Amino acid sequence: MAHGLQIRDEESGYNKNLFCIPKHYEEDLERVFIPHGLILDRTERLARDIMQDMGSHHIVALCVLKGGYKFFADLLDHIKALNQNGDKSVPVTVDFVRIKSYCNDSPTEKISIVGEELSTLNGKNVLVVEDIIETGRTMKALLSKLKDNEPKMVKVVSLLVKRTGQSPGYRPDYIGFEIPDKFVVGYALDYNEYFRDLNHICILKEKAKEKYRI
Ligand code: HPA
Ligand code: MG
Repeated sequence: MAHGLQIRDEESGYNKNLFCIPKHYEEDLERVFIPHGLILDRTERLARDIMQDMGSHHIVALCVLKGGYKFFADLLDHIKALNQNGDKSVPVTVDFVRIKSYCNDSPTEKISIVGEELSTLNGKNVLVVEDIIETGRTMKALLSKLKDNEPKMVKVVSLLVKRTGQSPGYRPDYIGFEIPDKFVVGYALDYNEYFRDLNHICILKEKAKEKYRI
């Protein structure tokens, strides 16, 4: 069973004034929760673990948009570095699906999956790259759609897994960090499309949830 770097429930993160934060978000953030540098360091190791397991055949890396795009880009940079410096290497091609399952800080009833022609995944080793898994509801919906196209293998890497009160419905094959049940933004994770343009993963102030509510 995969384990990520465990961040305890009591963890309060870091004083945001000790980091560089875009001016337009300064008022909105409570604390820096996972600094950008730590995200990149953990991602480097995930890339190594993934290549050890999957690195003998062509990989199709499937980015789950929009929240997964930063993690996807950095993970692929590390995989490319392994490919160009190691004794063996494999081709990595990319595909994208867009999923929307959140409005404000709550899950929506309907999960919409908009994507490429997923039939290109037939017979391939697919690595699904996701930003965050909470109940696993979205990932289960995506996996069942992928299975219809009969890929040879599907592995899932999620940067974050949230510990919620509910029993975990799904656990990915690779996990970056296991985090407490708090709403986080930054590093492409959003609140109603805001905060994707923030490097660190941060905790929002309650009043920011009001400010950007739709
Ligand atoms: N932040 C941003 N998007 C999310 C989260 C979160 O904490 N949980 C599920 N989608
Ligand atoms: Mg989102």
